[in-house]
Amino acid sequence: MFEKLQKIGFEFPNIIDCSAEISRSAVVGKGVFIGKKAVVNSNAKVEDFTIINTGAIIEHDCCIGKFTHVSVGATVCGNVNIEDDAFVGANATIVQGVKIGMNSVIGAGSVVLRDVPKGSLVKGLWTGGGGNIVASCIRVLLLKENGLGLILCSLCMAG
Ligand SMILES: CC(C)(COP(=O)(O)OP(=O)(O)OC[C@H]1O[C@@H](n2cnc3c(N)ncnc32)[C@H](O)[C@@H]1OP(=O)(O)O)[C@@H](O)C(=O)NCCC(=O)NCCS
Repeated sequence: MFEKLQKIGFEFPNIIDCSAEISRSAVVGKGVFIGKKAVVNSNAKVEDFTIINTGAIIEHDCCIGKFTHVSVGATVCGNVNIEDDAFVGANATIVQGVKIGMNSVIGAGSVVLRDVPKGSLVKGLWTGGGGNIVASCIRVLLLKENGLGLILCSLCMAG
């Protein structure tokens, strides 16, 4: 649908609440929604068709990919790169410098300390391996569990 509308020259407007704070050095694409009291800090880049929901914080030098949704109250620390089509749940915290792969889902309240492979579902504390981590691929339903309590689909295991 987006491609069709773009082809006929439709200009997608941005909807940005007047209480949101967007740095002058931030770059915001088209078709973006930025909710009440959200913050987009210096040099951050928010790509097209992204939602930065109520009270979410996008810190300096972050890159938020296309069609990504950063939910209510989530904190994305500096220099984080969230690729396209990702979802960050309410009140999740993504620490500085982390990369979140495309099509990933970060559960509400999760704390992400290390990079997240594309297509992952992370719930709770993500330290990149072991511990009390639950991760699963959202592209396929068949899950496989290994001894570390890490759940990956056969596709992720292969990748
Ligand atoms: C992460 C999420 C997508 C998981 O959905 P799901 O896989 O269908 O999860 P389920 O509800 O079936 O729960 C499966 C297990 O994961 C746990 N779990 C679910 N969400 C969790 C979360 N955010 N953090 C930690 N554990 C979580 C459940 O407690 C359950 O554990 P159990 O099997 O030991 O009982 C969902 O729970 C979530 O967090 N969604 C985000 C909602 C949100 O932020 N909306 C914002 C709108 S602005």
